[in-house]
Amino acid sequence: MSINFSEDSENAQITSAAVLPEDRSEGSLRPKTLSEYIGQEKAKENLSIFIGAAKLRNEPLDHVLLHGPPGLGKTTLAAVIANEMNVNMRITSGPAIEKPGDLVALLTNLSEGDILFVDEIHRLNRAYEEILYPAMEDFAIDIILGKGPSANSIHLDLPHFTLIAATTRSGQLTAPLRDRFGVTLRLELYTPQELQRIVERSASILNVRIDPKGSFEIASRSRGTPRIANRLLRRVRDYAQVLADGVITREVADAALRSLEVDQCGLDGIDRRMMRSIIEFYGGGPVGLETLAATINEDPVTLEDVYEPYLLQNGFLTRTPRGRCVTRKAYEHLGLAFNRTEQLEF
Ligand code: ADE
Repeated sequence: MSINFSEDSENAQITSAAVLPEDRSEGSLRPKTLSEYIGQEKAKENLSIFIGAAKLRNEPLDHVLLHGPPGLGKTTLAAVIANEMNVNMRITSGPAIEKPGDLVALLTNLSEGDILFVDEIHRLNRAYEEILYPAMEDFAIDIILGKGPSANSIHLDLPHFTLIAATTRSGQLTAPLRDRFGVTLRLELYTPQELQRIVERSASILNVRIDPKGSFEIASRSRGTPRIANRLLRRVRDYAQVLADGVITREVADAALRSLEVDQCGLDGIDRRMMRSIIEFYGGGPVGLETLAATINEDPVTLEDVYEPYLLQNGFLTRTPRGRCVTRKAYEHLGLAFNRTEQLEF
């Protein structure tokens, strides 16, 4: 299959897993309970046991670390846990904690059993992590007041709380922090069938008529990510209302997604530019991430966290010790002749 979409399209953002302004209404689509939450079966199975046991013992849940690519529902899952445990959740993120006082204020304002959700914990200043260690382990913090010989330390007891932290890069956490989480769950990309159920659930909340082939079309072009599936659903709904009779069929979904330049595999302009550059400039690879990012003028972290997981999982890209390589499938997807002689050991 050959696809020739423009590769610098402003629509490239539509398949971004990052939160966009249009996702503000995402909240209404979020499941509230584990039984409403579709997919991530392994994580749910474990969580329901841990939640059940904590409730039986009348204790807060152990600290939880959620990791995996963006857009897979880490915040949603944290809110589901809070709801299932019947406790309040306070939300913050690593980069929002600008000084130690911010973290101390958050911790001292918690109530017994509360959940503190810290998104992007890998971006928390390393120096402030040390406040978290005793807070997580002993539910206490020591605050130093003043400087030098006149400095004073005060010991504050904290309520028994649960820290739920989310990260796209668990490898960047320090070992002492990682070790303090009793539960670590990895979220995986969703299958098209799971995403189809999510799209159908969202369509019914949004009062959108959609047939099964329409929902499957959206699901299979959403790069394994519910945030993208819900965003595409809203865009396809606009298209169905204006140009069709309001019902999302496979044909309507296909036409809308084509006009949004989301191809049959859910790849966008950046994916295609990334694969094409590896082929055109580096003979199919291997090429280092930094070099590739500079070549296509993108941020290496975005390429690694947002673009690569889906390309790797779907066999368009491989990672070798010497760098990234594209596969035969990538050549075929771009409609390019596969002309590598010394093929890599995939
Ligand atoms: N909306 C977004 N993510 C979801 C999920 N995992 N299950 C149900 N609805 C969702």
